[in-house]
Amino acid sequence: MKARIGIIGTGWVGTSVAFSTLLAGHGRELWLHDTRAAVAEGEALDLTDGAAFYPPCEVRAVPLAQMRDADVVVLAAGRNGRPDESRLDLLRDNARIAAGMGVALKGFAGIVIVVTNPVDVLTRVVQAASGLPPERVMGTGTLLDTARLRERLAVRLGVATQSVHAQVVGEHGDSSVPLWSGARVGGTALRDWPGWQAEDEAALTQQVRRAAYEVIQRKGATNHAIGLVTAELIGCIVNDERRLLPVSRVQDNGVALSLPALVGAAGALEATAPAMDRAERAALVASSDLLDRAFGSLAG
Ligand code: LAC
Repeated sequence: MKARIGIIGTGWVGTSVAFSTLLAGHGRELWLHDTRAAVAEGEALDLTDGAAFYPPCEVRAVPLAQMRDADVVVLAAGRNGRPDESRLDLLRDNARIAAGMGVALKGFAGIVIVVTNPVDVLTRVVQAASGLPPERVMGTGTLLDTARLRERLAVRLGVATQSVHAQVVGEHGDSSVPLWSGARVGGTALRDWPGWQAEDEAALTQQVRRAAYEVIQRKGATNHAIGLVTAELIGCIVNDERRLLPVSRVQDNGVALSLPALVGAAGALEATAPAMDRAERAALVASSDLLDRAFGSLAG
C-alpha cells in the first residue's frame, strides 16, 4: 500500500526518518511539518531535488492540521539531549510538545509513531492526550536498542546480524533490559554458544545503554540509526507485515514501555510476553516503575 506519511519535526531525527522512508519507498506522499515553516519547506525542496534516486513519492511541507489525513504520523519534534543528559532529562521540555500533538491528533484515524525522547513516557502522553487506542500510538522504544544489541553480538560472535536473535525490552534508556535468557544464534541458545561468558552480557548491556551517549558527545545528536529504525517500522505498518517487534506502547498496567508487539496495519497489537528469567523480570518491573514515576512527575 502506498501510504501518506506525515513527519512532525524536521530536525536531525525527522529529516533522517524522511530520508530513510523515501529510499525505502514506503510512501506515495510524504508530508513534513515544523513550527519553523521555512525549514520544513526547505527540507521538502531539498529532498525533492533527489527524487530521481528514490521510488516515486511527493514530498511537501504542510500545515499541522493536514497530518490528520495521513495514514502514519511520526512525532519527531522536540529538543535532543546534551551529552550530560539522560533521555528522561528531556521530559519536561518535550512533554508539553507531545501533549499538544496528542490533542491535535484527537480522532485521528491512522497510526502514530512517537520518536521524541523520552519516547516511552511521551508515547503514554500522546496516547492519553489523543484518546486514541493504545495499539495505534506506538513509540520506537527499544527497537533501536535491539538493533544495537544484535549488531554488537554479530561482531562479537563473527556471524551475520540476521542470524542473531535477541531483543531488548523495557525503557529505551538507562534501564533497558536485554533478554539474554532467550537470545539465540541461529538455532543455538546464546548461553550455549562456544566461548560465550556471563560477563559478556554485562559488558554488552552497558555498550547498548551507552551507545547514544557515545554518538551525542561526538556529533551532538543521533539521527541515522533512529531514522532507519523508524522507516522500518513505517514499512511494517503500511505493508501490514505483522512482525513481532519490541516497540513501546501503553501496557495493561498503564505504563508505556517496549515489549514485543504484533506490528501491522492495525498498529502495535499486544502479543504474548517473551520468556524471561528471574533477573530479567525484576529488571523489567524496575524499568516500568521508573517510567511510571517519570510520568507521574508531570502532574507535579
Ligand atoms: C538513540 C536516541 C534515538 O538512542 O534515543 O539514539
